[in-house]
Amino acid sequence: MCGIVGYIGKREAVPILVDGLRRLEYRGYDSAGIACARNEKLSIFKTRGKVRDLERSLPERLKGTTGIAHTRWATHGEPNDRNAHPHTDGSERFAIVHNGIVENAAQLRAKLQASGVTFHSDTDSEVLVHLIAAMPAGSLEDRVRGALRLVTGTYGLAVLDAERPEAIIVARNGSPVVLGIGEREMFIASDPAALVRHTQSVVHLDDGEIAVVRADGFETSTLDGGATAKKPSTIAWTVESFDMEGYSHYMRKEIAEQPDSIRRTLSGRLDNRFHTTHIGGLEMAARELLEIRRVKILGCGSAHISGCIGAHLIEQLARVPAHAEPASEFRYRNPVIEQDTLYIAVSQSGETFDTLAAVQEIKRKGGRVLGIVNVVGSTIARECGRGIYLHAGPEIAVVSTKTFTSTAVAFALLAIHLGRIRDMSTSHGARLLKALEALPAQVEDILAMEPHIAKLAQELAKRENAYFVGRASGYPVAMEGALKLKEVSYIHAEAYPASELKHGPLALISPETPTVVIIPRDDLFAKNVSTLEEIRARSGPLYAITHSGEPLPVAVNGVIEVPKSEPELDPLLMNIPLQLLAYHVALAKDRNIDQPRNLAKSVTVE
Ligand code: F6R
Repeated sequence: MCGIVGYIGKREAVPILVDGLRRLEYRGYDSAGIACARNEKLSIFKTRGKVRDLERSLPERLKGTTGIAHTRWATHGEPNDRNAHPHTDGSERFAIVHNGIVENAAQLRAKLQASGVTFHSDTDSEVLVHLIAAMPAGSLEDRVRGALRLVTGTYGLAVLDAERPEAIIVARNGSPVVLGIGEREMFIASDPAALVRHTQSVVHLDDGEIAVVRADGFETSTLDGGATAKKPSTIAWTVESFDMEGYSHYMRKEIAEQPDSIRRTLSGRLDNRFHTTHIGGLEMAARELLEIRRVKILGCGSAHISGCIGAHLIEQLARVPAHAEPASEFRYRNPVIEQDTLYIAVSQSGETFDTLAAVQEIKRKGGRVLGIVNVVGSTIARECGRGIYLHAGPEIAVVSTKTFTSTAVAFALLAIHLGRIRDMSTSHGARLLKALEALPAQVEDILAMEPHIAKLAQELAKRENAYFVGRASGYPVAMEGALKLKEVSYIHAEAYPASELKHGPLALISPETPTVVIIPRDDLFAKNVSTLEEIRARSGPLYAITHSGEPLPVAVNGVIEVPKSEPELDPLLMNIPLQLLAYHVALAKDRNIDQPRNLAKSVTVE
């Protein structure tokens, strides 16, 4: 998704802006650009392609201590040099970088054109800079305020005025903007990843806020002009946590980090005295939790799938009906919001637009919603106001791995908490806590199987299609396995509940179509063996993710045996080999693993 970086201070802006853009590369983009103000003139350079292409096009002597920069992920207008940001007005006095979508761009464009304005791009963003230029003379802040009053849609933006380079104006509505506070210098970004090298003291703008950012500080106000008070917060992530640390891909690094990220999600939350869990951010007393009759979990993509695992955990451990639904669907179907339902929004980034919109819809209708979020201070975390932070550390690869696992762990913590204030026995609670504590070492054991998994991946890499099947809580594991494989290897992969196979998909089973079967040795084992039989009878190649034990009664092409946990927690471990499988298939096919085609890290547009 698009990224914004800005700098104002005493240092040369260009190296800081270029470094900031590089740190946003992980989010996915197709063009990049930079604008600097010096001697009442703007210098703008932009290009389709990567930040390194932009860097090559920059003149050596591009000077200036105030600047803004952008990585663009095309929405309106194809990715090319013209459509790249920054955009400027006819007199080349103002420059703007914009994330989000101007919904009434076509009408505004027509009006501006009728008044003689010439457009140089196909983007919705360009209307913003022309509107700013067309405002009555006054401060840049007033111009931006005036322009934004005419706009419907979403924005995170930064604006530069060549004639007054002592301030950058930023504004936010639905697209994140963070200010970084330095020593007589200020940083601007759409993602803290671009700031952490310089400062850990940050201020998150809220929707409807404008900030005037100067080298020595900032002031914030609402679109109507009322001053707002902001308190800086500290980001715990350091620049080192964004490094590749010798791994060839972030995805591989993040898979390997899971023993530690799980430990961090668990840290301080296990209560071995009362055999339950402490969740500080929940801010709901036992009495309020007892009133809950249903749980509804909302998220997108892998966040939704981890919510499916969460729903199983909550139903099994707390015996409260729970269901996960894609946030994107939920928000469009005018959902009935119930007082005795606990809504849970799941998001790694905390910025996914559809999930945020679902949270806002729930709140608007008086529902209570918790967040399970990785990025501290992110919009969804702030909008929910309470919930569980994953503390998994930054996830840079576009596809989620460690945060998927940490989300499932967070759901286990919540399910035990809900269970123990209901009917879960102390001995069951104690068993589960022990099993949670054992997870990091068990993940280490699975990671040690990588050479074996890599070998199986060579076989899968030759296929064009694959099925993933699982039953009950094994089904979300199959869903995530299929999603990971298609995202990073581009192999067509589909997940089915094992019992649904014979209701249609079996028609496609052939020697060319491998099936990965999730087959824990639990009370559904015999049923899952029947699934293996059905596939084997159609000569379909089989790969089984299972536990060690007697040889499987059906011949399979490959087996991965993971350590056994408590049955409710088995899905967490069964997912890990599928991450490695997807990674090695993608490696064999020489894919762009950390930034798969067409995908972006956090989807901040509708
Ligand atoms: C899949 C993946 C996406 C995200 C989804 C939600 O590997 O990464 O499906 O899970 O876009 O993102 P967050 O969790 O940031 O809301």
